[in-house]
Amino acid sequence: MKISVIHGPNLNRLGYRDKKYYGTNTLPEINKTLEEKAIKMNIELETMQSNYEGEIIDFIQRVAEETDGIIINPGAFTHYSYAIRDALADCTVPVIEVHLSNIYSREDFRTKSITVEVCNGQIAGLGIQGYLLALEGLDFLIKQNKG
Ligand code: DQA
Repeated sequence: MKISVIHGPNLNRLGYRDKKYYGTNTLPEINKTLEEKAIKMNIELETMQSNYEGEIIDFIQRVAEETDGIIINPGAFTHYSYAIRDALADCTVPVIEVHLSNIYSREDFRTKSITVEVCNGQIAGLGIQGYLLALEGLDFLIKQNKG
């Protein structure tokens, strides 16, 4: 089983940026923790981070053909990128949206996710644990679909 993980804009600044919301783990630390769990679950993991909308769309289009599921934290694109939403809607594999912070308890503009409407589910507010739970969630959905 292969899972692709997408980290959106500014998430390369994790560990330094707004620690109150995003915690102290850096992105390489998060990816390492995810990789360790994936190995235990016999999952092949591919991770990417981009600050560019088009690069994220290119990645989604490319992996849609070869991956079994996607974990995405679209960062601020969550709230306004119809283009990423369309790319996610176009791919047939299950997708789980993750947010480190609880987007529903912050500024008004963060309480609306454009992208979650085309995802299978969302985990918000659990920090790094959210990514690990998303991995388990996708594993469950993929095995269920393969029936
Ligand atoms: C975020 C929440 C977004 O509103 C914000 O723009 C981010 C990070 C999160 O993980 O909590 O960059 O996606």
